[in-house]
Amino acid sequence: MHIGMIGLGRMGANMARRLARGGAEVLAWSRSAGARRALAREPRVATVADLASMVEKLKTPRVLWLMLPAGKPTADTLARLAPLLAKGDVVVNGANAYYKDSMRQAAELAGHGLYLVDAGVSGGIWGLANGYAVMLGGDAKAVKRITPFVKLLAPPKGWLHCGPSGAGHYVKMIHNGIEYGLMQAYAEGFALLAGKREFSLDLAAVAELWRHGSVVRSWLLDLMADNLKRDAALEGIAPVVADSGEGRWTAIEAVELGVPAPVISLALAMRFASQGKGDYGARQLAQLRNSFGGHAVTGSGHPAPAGRVRGGRVARKKKQS
Ligand SMILES: NC(=O)c1ccc[n+]([C@@H]2O[C@H](COP(=O)([O-])OP(=O)(O)OC[C@H]3O[C@@H](n4cnc5c(N)ncnc54)[C@H](OP(=O)(O)O)[C@@H]3O)[C@@H](O)[C@H]2O)c1
Repeated sequence: MHIGMIGLGRMGANMARRLARGGAEVLAWSRSAGARRALAREPRVATVADLASMVEKLKTPRVLWLMLPAGKPTADTLARLAPLLAKGDVVVNGANAYYKDSMRQAAELAGHGLYLVDAGVSGGIWGLANGYAVMLGGDAKAVKRITPFVKLLAPPKGWLHCGPSGAGHYVKMIHNGIEYGLMQAYAEGFALLAGKREFSLDLAAVAELWRHGSVVRSWLLDLMADNLKRDAALEGIAPVVADSGEGRWTAIEAVELGVPAPVISLALAMRFASQGKGDYGARQLAQLRNSFGGHAVTGSGHPAPAGRVRGGRVARKKKQS
């Protein structure tokens, strides 16, 4: 069982390890020599210096698994691989990619006689030990070809051929949308617990209690309970939450399908707000309240992150010397 793993970041490196520990022979490549060196020590893993060497060394029909950032890095790598590969080879894209891109790319590769399977992968840095949930979309023959590898990556029952091309990344996108909503609900609940100062609630103890028998127990809650035991005040953590694309795509899908998904959409909006993207609107609100009701406006000690208003136009904030 030979497989090529492309991209040895947090996900790809551990997936290569899990595949090798399960008995697969892994050829691995990443841009950075450091990532390749770190993996070369692993039994049954060999690294190559470039994609051409990987293609040359893999037995046909080949299976290659991409674990790269979605968008340009994945698209560029597919474009570089396509002319090197032979008819019948299977490329798996494990990135958190937009399912419409994956459908288009699969059709393009099919024109060269190549298969592209879209694989939603979940499990994060814990996947090495616990296994990865894998959601597959694509041609049944190609999925059958990669199934032995998927079985090494996933825990028992932790994978599914969801449907045709795009279905794997679609299911992963919705999975991540759900994740946005769940995380937001936990965060809000614990903020409310923390806000009830008169009860001096022990948040770590409440989280621990809820892990046992309660209907809101989950792996996310397990992680939260661990975090709270170490640090419940979180004073060293800036209140800024990134969003990676999956939440936006899920919200767009809700609009396109006309399916109400307010929890996911609002959870996404809260991340935008945490990034300061709601600050200008909040300033407008404060000023309007002042205009019609004379309500006090708090003088801002914080510089506007997006810009400042000059002559009715929002101007970029000049660098202070
Ligand atoms: N982290 C998670 O929990 C998680 C969970 C599920 C899915 N995913 C998805 O899995 C994929 C990989 O995530 P990750 O967390 O492993 O990311 P990561 O730690 O940032 O690693 C990214 C990998 O891609 C390589 N890379 C970046 N830009 C590249 C480019 N332009 N050309 C070639 N290689 C490039 C990096 O190489 P260098 O080391 O040389 O920079 C590195 O090997 C992403 O699509 C992500 O959305 C992540």
